[in-house]
Amino acid sequence: MTDIPAEHRLDSTLDLMSEGYLYIGNHCQTHQSPLFKARILFENTLCLRGAEAARLFYNTENCRREGAAPVRLQKTLFGVGGVQGLDDSAHRHRKAMFMDLMSPQGIDQLAERVNTEWQRALPQWEAMEEVLLFKECQFILCRAVCAWAGVPLPEEDVERRTHQLAAMIDGAGTVGPRHWQARRSRHDAENWIGKLVEKIRRAPDDYEDSETQSALIRFSLHRDEQGELLPIHTVSVEILNVLRPTLAISRYMVFIAHALHCWPATRPDINDDEAVHRFVQEVRRYYPFFPVAAARLRHDIEWQGYSLSAGTRLLLDLYGTNHDPGGWEAPETFNPERFLQREVDAFQLIPQGGGDHHVNHRCPGEWITLRLMEDTVRQLGRMHWQVPEQNLEIDLSEVPALPQSGMVLREVRAPRD
Ligand code: HEM
Repeated sequence: MTDIPAEHRLDSTLDLMSEGYLYIGNHCQTHQSPLFKARILFENTLCLRGAEAARLFYNTENCRREGAAPVRLQKTLFGVGGVQGLDDSAHRHRKAMFMDLMSPQGIDQLAERVNTEWQRALPQWEAMEEVLLFKECQFILCRAVCAWAGVPLPEEDVERRTHQLAAMIDGAGTVGPRHWQARRSRHDAENWIGKLVEKIRRAPDDYEDSETQSALIRFSLHRDEQGELLPIHTVSVEILNVLRPTLAISRYMVFIAHALHCWPATRPDINDDEAVHRFVQEVRRYYPFFPVAAARLRHDIEWQGYSLSAGTRLLLDLYGTNHDPGGWEAPETFNPERFLQREVDAFQLIPQGGGDHHVNHRCPGEWITLRLMEDTVRQLGRMHWQVPEQNLEIDLSEVPALPQSGMVLREVRAPRD
């Protein structure tokens, strides 16, 4: 058996926090290895990168999720009791509840709502001297996804709810005030959704026959494997698992504008759907979003000549796998055309997790994300906009990352067609 390279620090959490997205990649490079041991949050952890590591990580016979994610992430980003922490048949059953929302018609309906919000926003943007794209996209997505999910959102609440959903993402990887703000936001948002669930539960017959059931109704009336309704808190967590990440697509919308601006030669022809798709895939590969995913080994195994022990926590480098020099040619170059020559491998391009959507913890919202990103490329490609002087730098030590300015646009003009 080969010895697993190890970090010789008492605890490497500070390195992880200061190196951010680059931490695992940097240290894999130093150790010339796809894995290394480190103590993170005072626990022995195996950090891994690359497609073969992803294959191990997403093998449900070897790995489980229960007890893998740090509590501070559950209290902010995921919520306690959500699908992210389930395993085996309980996971597959709950996951199916999400997958049922992802029909082509369901995705079309959400995309139409987002498109309507773009059309509503554009005249306002034209009248503004500067448009902070990140913030404006959050409003667009919040209005659209709440309507799509059947969550009533009066106009006077849009700003507050948008901030709440955004804060859960923004504060997830942080410590101090931003972390506490994220926890407060989650608490308030869970109460908000909980009240809506109670209302549906009080008169379920009014909703049972509804032909086009929204996520709110479906989740409120969903039954687990034992035929029981889910606890109200769990339904709230799962509804927020639809609203919050849809709002997070605002980050990818900003990255799209950033890429269109920084690499104009790579701009796709917006009438060429495949070129638009390649551009979006490269944005998902190149730009930082989720840094890592966590799991635990179910039993002792041998993997690639290493002996790995049961119970060990694994941290899979999602960003680093998308930038792995072993898997990608010139990974630090933004080049959508790379997708002309290759099939997309379920373990190589993993910004939203890897493997199978139904069986593994791979993101059920991946098709929504792709569709809304493709539509954003078309919207931005048709509009006129200028990028004034601003700090567009993306600091990879900050999780979640964004261009420092949030992407300010000027002279926005709607297409005249
Ligand atoms: C901004 C775009 C998005 C990114 C970058 C993203 C990323 C991810 C990642 C990395 C995971 C975890 C994979 C793992 O644990 O192995 C995940 C899981 C998940 N995502 Fe997304 N996601 C996005 C959009 C969405 C959308 C639009 C939805 C729903 C409408 C969604 C719902 C979920 C849910 C429910 C899970 C948990 C799945 C499970 O545990 O089986 N995500 N996502």
